[in-house]
Parts: sequence; structure tokens; C-alpha cells
Amino acid sequence: MTYLERAREKARALIEKGSATLLAVESSCDETAVAVVKDGRQVLANEISSQVDIHALYGGVVPEIASRMHVEALSPLYERALAASGLGARDIDAVAVTFGPGLVGALLTGVSFAKALAYGLDVPLVAVNHIEGHVSANFIAAPSLEPPFVCLVASGGHSHIVNVTRYGCYELLGRTADDAAGEAFDKVARVLEIPYPGGPLLDKLAETGDEKRYRFPRMHTEGKYDYSFSGLKTAVINQAHTIRQNGGEIEAADWAASFRRAVVDALLDKALLAARDTGAERFALAGGVASNRLLRRETLRRGTEMGLKVFMPPASLCTDNAAMIGAAGFYRLMNGELAGLDLNAQPSVRLIEE
Ligand code: KG4
Ligand code: ZN
Repeated sequence: MTYLERAREKARALIEKGSATLLAVESSCDETAVAVVKDGRQVLANEISSQVDIHALYGGVVPEIASRMHVEALSPLYERALAASGLGARDIDAVAVTFGPGLVGALLTGVSFAKALAYGLDVPLVAVNHIEGHVSANFIAAPSLEPPFVCLVASGGHSHIVNVTRYGCYELLGRTADDAAGEAFDKVARVLEIPYPGGPLLDKLAETGDEKRYRFPRMHTEGKYDYSFSGLKTAVINQAHTIRQNGGEIEAADWAASFRRAVVDALLDKALLAARDTGAERFALAGGVASNRLLRRETLRRGTEMGLKVFMPPASLCTDNAAMIGAAGFYRLMNGELAGLDLNAQPSVRLIEE
């Protein structure tokens, strides 16, 4: 019997039992992460090694450095995650790994590690889409949450509105035509000399600012539920340069607060419209930007006002982590969707093949 035949047999037994403990690996960008997750919802270990300090020196992620650092971090993180879970390698029923989207070299390190591990332990391998991982962080945070629900996924690389119709089934309602929301936060933060990744610090600074002080343009897009952050970002950056060239000064906290308000309103206007139009009863946030304080407050306020039940993972599960990959991987495994040892990184894979 080949590895894949044995894996299929093992997966069938796990599906019958309706239970599995997954070891999950995430390495799509600048966070190396390994987690152990039981039945898609119970996190037994969630280890992360961030490279942010190194990339901050360059003002953004340097792909080659990211790949090298993942390679160094993966084995120790695996050991740490197993130890923290209190389990042995033989207790792992399957391995889940992010295969895309992300940086190709970075993804390859995790995919190679996961393939070797699955083969070595002789257990099924599950390929997980990173965006699906972000959405699935909600399953960990809210044990009662089940599809269908509409989810706004806003991160450094993506801004999507998706309708989660069933576990593993997504209908793409809207997306950004250019920059992602997190990318816009990071680039505008640079104007305020906030180091990479600027989003979290800009958010903190905004808490003390006057959001009505500066006026930024509203977003224009073709699609009813689509975003475009590039125009807003450029307008904000240009406005800052003009003020400074004329000898003026920018009040950083007010600037941050006004910009944050513009992004959060734009994100929610469209996402909540999509939720209303699809008749959704539940609405969830996901992705790094979902840890934004104003976005969280406004989602709760506006969503609840509309009669939606609102979900959002804690900040630690919004930014990149492997627990969310373990959650998504469990439902893929339960659907019988296994990857072979020929699994490759797919840097531009979409959540939904359009
Ligand atoms: O999901 P994530 O960790 O990685 C990607 O898949 O991209 O998201 C990282 C992004 C960065 O752009 C970061 O600046 C942004 O999320 N971010 C925030 C906040 N925390 C993280 N943006 C705004 N406010 C925050 N509190
Ligand atoms: Zn991410």
C-alpha cells in the first residue's frame, strides 16, 4: 500500500469517529507557527515565532529572510508545540499545513516540513488555504458558531467578504481591487514614522486622537461589495506630504484616528451591506485587521443594531497563527480532502476558484 492509500484508510476511520487531533503548520508570511488542535475547536498548543523585529529593519517583509528564518524555527516550534500539548508524536492523527496564498519560499518551508512529518508519522496530510484559516479562527473562539455566516476577512494581504455556506464552502461576495486593508494601515503608518507593521501601533495611537480632525476621500469601487484602499492610501500620504512641504505639522494621533475611521467605515459599510443582502443571521470578523479596536467596537455596535449575531476571535487568533490552520484542516479532513506528498505551495491560490 502506498502512503496515500494508507492515509485514506486512516482518514476514513477518523471521519467515522468524527474526531481527530491535528498538528498544524503555518509559514505563509513572517510568522512561523505550529499548533495542536483537537476536533477543530480545542487548542492544545499554539506556538508562534515572529520575525517582525528583523523585517522592521527593512520596513517590510523580505521574502528570502522570511524563508530562512522559517527553516530555522520550524523544528524547535514543533518540539515546543508537542511538549505544550502534553501529547506524543504518535497521538497526532493528521498534519495540516498552509499551502497558499503567501510568499512562495516561505510557504515551501512549511509545506516541506508538513509533508515530511505526515510521511514520517504515516498520517493524513491536509492542505489549508490561509484565508480559510483566518475564517476558521472563529470556530475556536466560538464553540457554538456554525455555518452559514458572512465573514469579513481583513489582513495584510487580503480584504474579502465571504459567505461561509457550509464547512469548507465559500461564496466570495466581495474583495479588494488593489491594496488590502492591513497594507493600507502599514503604509500610512510609515508617514507617521511608525515602524513595520504599523497597523497595531497606529490603532493604539488612534485611541487618543480626534477622528474628525482630518477629512479623507471616500472609497469608489465598481462592485457593490468590493473594496479599493489604494486611492485612500495615496490621498492620505500625499496630503501629509503637502502639509509638511508647506511648513505645517501633522497631529499624529488625530491623523491616525481620522484614517482609521475612514478604513473601518469603508470595511463595515460594504461587509454589513453584503450580510444584509444575503439575509445572514451571523457575522464574523477575521484576519490581522480584525484585531483593530475600532473595527471590533463598530462591528459589535452596528452588527447588533442590525440584529446580527456578531463573532470575532481574540486578537491573538486574528493575526497569523497555526491554531486557525488546525481548525480549518479538521473540517477538510472530515470532508475527506487529503493532500498527497506532491503537494506544492500555491502563492496566489484563491479561496474560491473564480
Ligand atoms: O493576518 P495577518 O497577521 O497576516 C496576513 O495574512 O497578512 O495580518 C497582518 C496585518 C498587518 O498589515 C497589520 O498591520 C494588520 O494586520 N494589523 C492591524 C492591527 N493588528 C494587525 N491593522 C490595524 N489595526 C490593528 N490593531
Ligand atoms: Zn494572515
